[in-house]
Amino acid sequence: MTTLETPRLISRPWTEADIEPFFALCSDPEVMHYFGGPQSREKVEATVGRVIELQVDFGVWLQPLILKETGEFIGMAGIAQVMFEEHFTPAVEIGWRLARRHWGKGYITEIGRAFIDYAFTKREFDELVSFAVHDNLRSIAVMQRLGFTHNPADDFDHKSVPDDLPHLKRHVLYRLNNPRLG
Ligand SMILES: CC(C)(COP(=O)(O)OP(=O)(O)OC[C@H]1O[C@@H](n2cnc3c(N)ncnc32)[C@H](O)[C@@H]1OP(=O)(O)O)[C@@H](O)C(=O)NCCC(=O)NCCS
Repeated sequence: MTTLETPRLISRPWTEADIEPFFALCSDPEVMHYFGGPQSREKVEATVGRVIELQVDFGVWLQPLILKETGEFIGMAGIAQVMFEEHFTPAVEIGWRLARRHWGKGYITEIGRAFIDYAFTKREFDELVSFAVHDNLRSIAVMQRLGFTHNPADDFDHKSVPDDLPHLKRHVLYRLNNPRLG
């Protein structure tokens, strides 16, 4: 189990107490736009329950993001094994979801750098990937700020996206190689 700290943020494992603020975040249509809209409490509880199991095995996962100054839950970020099969799997992804009022402060870039360092230094993964709906420009901007690069030949239609949400199917894939491994 892993806790990461940056100047403004802490990323630590999930607890049951995170369900309430995470549900509030997952009820915001703007935050959830690229995930098909707000999620029910049942779905959010099921997600947190599953992640609590997964983080034990993997040592880390997409984890709560806590603002040091206030102790407030402001979102989640982290690395995780990609849980579906695609041309680029098996792979470890980096991902994020932040409460709307905290966008534009550089928090995700800050914690993203800490997770990249953890993934490449402590875990020695060869590569990280990150993917997003093709027009999720804010998320793609984070990938680019963190040094990820894009080859359009890697893009894919996400099989888990239901057919009634065709505009959310096309995904871009970004990759970052571990510079420590020649
Ligand atoms: C994707 C998402 C996490 C990006 O959040 P974000 O706040 O734009 O990203 P960052 O935390 O890296 O912040 C960068 C912005 O903060 C600004 N900033 C302010 N202070 C900063 C600082 N100290 N350091 C770095 N950047 C700073 C940057 O200039 C940039 O501003 P801009 O958006 O005007 O270009 C957020 O939009 C989100 O949660 N979206 C909904 C969920 C989602 O789609 N997740 C991804 C699914 S693939």
